[in-house]
Amino acid sequence: MPKSQKAENKDPIFYNSLEESEKAAWSLFESGVTDRKSYFHTPIVISKSLAGSLKPRTMVLRKVIKEALELQFHTDTRSNKVEEIVENNLGAIIVYDMTTKVQLRIEAKFKILEDSSVIGERWSNMKNMSKECYAVSVAPGTELQDPERLEFMDSGEDNFTILSAKVLKMEWLYLCYKGNRRASFDYRLGKSVKSWLVP
Ligand SMILES: Cc1cc2nc3c(=O)[nH]c(=O)nc-3n(C[C@H](O)[C@H](O)[C@H](O)COP(=O)(O)O)c2cc1C
Repeated sequence: MPKSQKAENKDPIFYNSLEESEKAAWSLFESGVTDRKSYFHTPIVISKSLAGSLKPRTMVLRKVIKEALELQFHTDTRSNKVEEIVENNLGAIIVYDMTTKVQLRIEAKFKILEDSSVIGERWSNMKNMSKECYAVSVAPGTELQDPERLEFMDSGEDNFTILSAKVLKMEWLYLCYKGNRRASFDYRLGKSVKSWLVP
């Protein structure tokens, strides 16, 4: 929200507009990719474990493709979440940003990207420090005797992949002293079905 609006105590442009609320939601995700201080930089991504329990984890949002309703994250092919989403590709993503007072709650369909040229290009643009995490010789989550004694392979490229989350439904919640606003954006019919909800 621009500072001038706050100073004049004006309602944000999205306050009573479904279209503007939806635009604001996507733009918060888009700016979260590069704005490391935004809560939208590190959403909570939730899948189901193989046993059926819920598995939340923080992940860095790496790319947003709004036209495809897609959010992308980087991960290790050997991590538990990869096996879990192959088994059950439905999950959720949640963020609450206390600076904008917006919570976004997403129902998503996950997949692991298979396009090696996209994955290879993303890998080549990564910093060496980030690449190193993928070069640990054993899978993330493996029990260790000594955390100081990790072994590394020459390259972790084969362990690097991209997790894509296609947004099926998005729920907007804006907290405001004048009255909260809650809205649903349902994309499951191939268009955006927008509605206000009781907060
Ligand atoms: C700030 C933050 C950012 C993280 N970013 C990622 C990420 O981008 N990709 C990832 O796989 N794990 C990331 N993690 C680690 C995960 O939260 C999680 O611990 C790890 O991926 C293992 O999850 P899993 O066993 O469910 O696969 C991040 C953790 C924190 C605290």
